[in-house]
Amino acid sequence: CGIVGYVGDRPAGGRPLEVAMGGLARLEYRGYDSAGVAVITGNGDGLATAKKAGKLKNLAALLEADPLPAGTASIGHTRWATHGAPNDVNAHPHLSEDGALAVIHNGIVENFASLREELVGAGVALTSETDTEVVAHLVSRAYDDGKDLTDAVRTVALRLRGTFTILAVHADSPRTVVGARHDSPLVVGLGEGENFLGSDVAAFIAHTKEAMELGQDQVVTITPTSVDVVDFAGNPVEAKRYTVTWDAAAAEKGGFATFMDKEIHDQPKAVADTLLGRTDDAGRLRLDEVHVDEAVLRQVDKIIVVACGTAAYAGQVARYAIEHWCRIPVEVELAHEFRYRDPIVDARTLVVAVSQSGETMDTLMAVRHAKEQGATVLAIVNTHGSTIPREADAVLYTHAGPEIAVASTKAFLAQITAAYLLGLYLAQLRGTKFTDEITDVLDDLRGIPEKIQRVIDGAGRVREIAGWMADTSSVLFLGRHVGYPVAMEGALKLKELAYIHAEGFAAGELKHGPIALIEPGQPVFIIVPSPRGRDSLHSKVISNIQEIRARGARTLVIAEEGDDDVLPFADEVFRVPQTPVLLAPLVSVVPLQIFACELATARGLDVDQPRNLAKSVTVE
Ligand code: G6P
Repeated sequence: CGIVGYVGDRPAGGRPLEVAMGGLARLEYRGYDSAGVAVITGNGDGLATAKKAGKLKNLAALLEADPLPAGTASIGHTRWATHGAPNDVNAHPHLSEDGALAVIHNGIVENFASLREELVGAGVALTSETDTEVVAHLVSRAYDDGKDLTDAVRTVALRLRGTFTILAVHADSPRTVVGARHDSPLVVGLGEGENFLGSDVAAFIAHTKEAMELGQDQVVTITPTSVDVVDFAGNPVEAKRYTVTWDAAAAEKGGFATFMDKEIHDQPKAVADTLLGRTDDAGRLRLDEVHVDEAVLRQVDKIIVVACGTAAYAGQVARYAIEHWCRIPVEVELAHEFRYRDPIVDARTLVVAVSQSGETMDTLMAVRHAKEQGATVLAIVNTHGSTIPREADAVLYTHAGPEIAVASTKAFLAQITAAYLLGLYLAQLRGTKFTDEITDVLDDLRGIPEKIQRVIDGAGRVREIAGWMADTSSVLFLGRHVGYPVAMEGALKLKELAYIHAEGFAAGELKHGPIALIEPGQPVFIIVPSPRGRDSLHSKVISNIQEIRARGARTLVIAEEGDDDVLPFADEVFRVPQTPVLLAPLVSVVPLQIFACELATARGLDVDQPRNLAKSVTVE
């Protein structure tokens, strides 16, 4: 989601609304499910809000038809839905019961169910399905207990689990906006007689380049002439000032040259957010959104994953884990092929449709076909309110945030993560894994974002090599077991971004044909399985590297830290942290994404919008 806050010392006028709407326009890349603004009117005699589902232009049209009164302060929000459908009611801001306080929020409040129960128990009437409305009522109650707005926000922040940036305004404080952050971004923009808040500097870069960074677990209070920061315990904090050097276009991309590069860097968060809020207080998996009768899920005797492109490779990765954990046969089929082969599907089949956009027509048609055959359909989708989840029986959302670059990166990792959660949930339900085994895998999954970050931080060499390879005409990718779909995804990224002929093979298949392609200098990426996994697998892939190197291939090896067996046969080694075998794709694909992105950039190509491709393919 995108957040903006503004306060100025001029008499009530149109500027607060103008700043909020301008900021939202620059933040729309962070979400476009709905948008909303709140303005403190006149001299604190009230609060006026407007909000609308869909893109910002819908809100702009609403404001045009029904303008808000002049104001002194404003907050604005552009939403990427996590809890609740992307409709008008669930759009932010959310108000207290008396309508005097408005809150906007970016993030996921994990313990919102219990907080909601507490409010309902106290007689509060909630009007939306969002976690944010819960926050609005809590802050309002704290405020009514006599706390000032800063303290009210701070004490509520202490009670929230998950990730959040909150902004709050109250009609009684016409020239104050309060913000709090935990694991979610918030920056301050410093003006003359006015100050700004934003989820990133793009929110206010049109007005000021002087900014202040907020630390983790801090609360900021801005007035036209002051910026005060305290920690969650209420102790004053000295915040760091800096001058923004980006222009507006760079600011939208968080300072990265392209959305693709930004989204590759978003991946630790995409995985972490997809894991958030999926367990109960006892640590058991709880997939609240999966409204499928547990008895039906217990009886499932076959899973068919249907998807296209990168999403299909996510399905192929997940297949290894789901079969291993649940002992249910899993087929993965390209959605456009599925329908036409008269697949064997019945009431005991669970069809899992994986899609970032939720709009891919081929996948939608497969969903319809599966439903006609009586299957239960579960969607793993990133975009709330899209068509596939509406037609499916249940949906498990990935929380990757909006993916703008056409070729998929962070959605892929989030899809694998969500499919793994589904596999573990089925295993829990069907008793095919012990609770402590499931807990161990969940712990390992929670460790993945940090490992992805290490791969990204250590990717200097991949970037360098990619830069040198701009003239390459063909690259091959080899993998085995879960590394096989990773190889195919690595090849797909290179085709999509760099327009280079690329193929991914199962390493074991090499000797059955593809090895004929190897000639001196042919670059080949090899994804090496962990030596701590099944020993034979590791040594077989090492043999494959030897075989192609002997024929002159240039071997670009992705291997775990500490795996020295690869050294004698590798022209280059790109290291990934040690990771349990089934989770390894979440780290090993990252150097391949970076490679494709860098190589395409070196060729002078538009990595965000490659030729001939569309982000969401709504034709069959
Ligand atoms: C298009 C995109 C791919 C994407 C595929 C599936 O072909 O170019 O990057 O993987 O669609 O999209 P979906 O939205 O269903 O995940």
